[in-house]
Amino acid sequence: MLLHLRQVLTPQELAQAREVLAAAPWGDGRVTAGVQSALAKNNEQLPQGCEASRNVQALVLNALQRHAMFFSAALPRQIFPPLFNRYGGVTNAFANHVDNAIRYVPGSGARVRTDLSCTLFLSEPHEYDGGELVIEDPFESPRLKLPAGDMLLYPGTSVHRVEPVTRGQRIASFFWVESMVRSDEQRRLLFDLDAHLMRLRTEHGEADAAAIGITGTYHNLLRMWANA
Ligand code: NI
Repeated sequence: MLLHLRQVLTPQELAQAREVLAAAPWGDGRVTAGVQSALAKNNEQLPQGCEASRNVQALVLNALQRHAMFFSAALPRQIFPPLFNRYGGVTNAFANHVDNAIRYVPGSGARVRTDLSCTLFLSEPHEYDGGELVIEDPFESPRLKLPAGDMLLYPGTSVHRVEPVTRGQRIASFFWVESMVRSDEQRRLLFDLDAHLMRLRTEHGEADAAAIGITGTYHNLLRMWANA
């Protein structure tokens, strides 16, 4: 499932993140790439342990905490500490690649299975040309460029790329989510069920017998499928 999450960051958080990242010590993006994707990758990335990175990581993780649709869609079990990349000038693209299935968190060594990939856009679309995130699909490959502060959630299983940025700079945060529900199909069913349930609760009230019954069904499916 491909999902556009709107206004994950408030305008204030976005401004703060951009200010910190503008003064940050950017480096070669290939440090976190595997052998195959290092050949495709040509961008800049923020060193994982630097102060700027830690500051904006905390800001992004805090914003995710309060985003109900993110929780409903991703059912996160673990979130890889957000990374930051910048495309522009001579380091401006990332050709087709797949993300590693397992990522190791620096320091703790914890393993995160990359069920979902996330790209949180930090530059406005009018600030750069090119830079679309393209997710390969045999029928039609979507070409995505979201407003700053919005986030794209897409399956970790995809082949994807970032088109060359030919003007300006494209700054984004990217990271992965290990979901409590491993199957994309099951997660999708729970997401749809939750959305319909929210509508039912809004229209008929929390005490509505059907709303209570279907809430039970939602939790029973989650209990059956989740690896919490
Ligand atoms: Ni990738």
